[in-house]
Amino acid sequence: MKGVILAGGSGTRLHPLTRITNKHLLPIYDRPMISYAIEALVLAGINEMMLVTGGTHAGEFLRLLGNGEEYGIDRLFYAYQERPGGIAEALGLAERFVADDPVLVMLADNIVEHSFRSTVEAFADQGKGARILLTEEDDPVHLRHLGVPELDGEGHVVAIHEKPQTPPSSYAVTGIYCYDPQVFEVIGHLEPSGRGELEITDVNNWYVGQGEMAFDVLQGFWGDAGESIEAYYAVNDYVRANGANKS
Ligand code: G1P
Repeated sequence: MKGVILAGGSGTRLHPLTRITNKHLLPIYDRPMISYAIEALVLAGINEMMLVTGGTHAGEFLRLLGNGEEYGIDRLFYAYQERPGGIAEALGLAERFVADDPVLVMLADNIVEHSFRSTVEAFADQGKGARILLTEEDDPVHLRHLGVPELDGEGHVVAIHEKPQTPPSSYAVTGIYCYDPQVFEVIGHLEPSGRGELEITDVNNWYVGQGEMAFDVLQGFWGDAGESIEAYYAVNDYVRANGANKS
């Protein structure tokens, strides 16, 4: 399985910090944010990956990560997103890298307490379709800033709602997704959303519509450090006190 780490975007929710650097280079406790996603993929057994970034500070990722050997990566590739066109557009840039393999995609502002290696293994057995990671979240105010799954009585995902006013469940969709290579065809047919971006939630809803969407619920802490300045500091506090990427 190949890995794609998405570290682009303009990070407007963390302005003015992100006027002078890329969001994913900001510190989380003692390291740049991007290191946690790299470490999470390596822990999950993925050692061939592409980092997609953009904006004016892309060169700093090379300075930090180099060829990835220090992090246990066999092959590290880079792609550059010319303009912030959304998560799905950024993933589209990895098409030739991923080719005919399954892929795990992680948003580089997501921080996890425990490894999601079991999801990677379950997706290898699944063989086809998509598999996402959910996290339990009771706070409807928080859910309004995230993707939220709607589940039927049997626990299947029937739709994913992006930043819903009335959240249909007490779960959030994390930024960790497994896809089969069909995903690039799906991205090719997407229309930009109201905010002018190609949305990953539209990709996920395509798989839901095909009846090919599975999910796991992540154990332990999950945080999106790019969601707001409050979330950024909440993630920092958590990681400083408890660590991250434990097996
Ligand atoms: C994105 C996704 C959203 C998901 C979140 C997780 O939101 O669109 O469904 O819950 O990442 O970090 P964004 O960070 O782009 O607002």
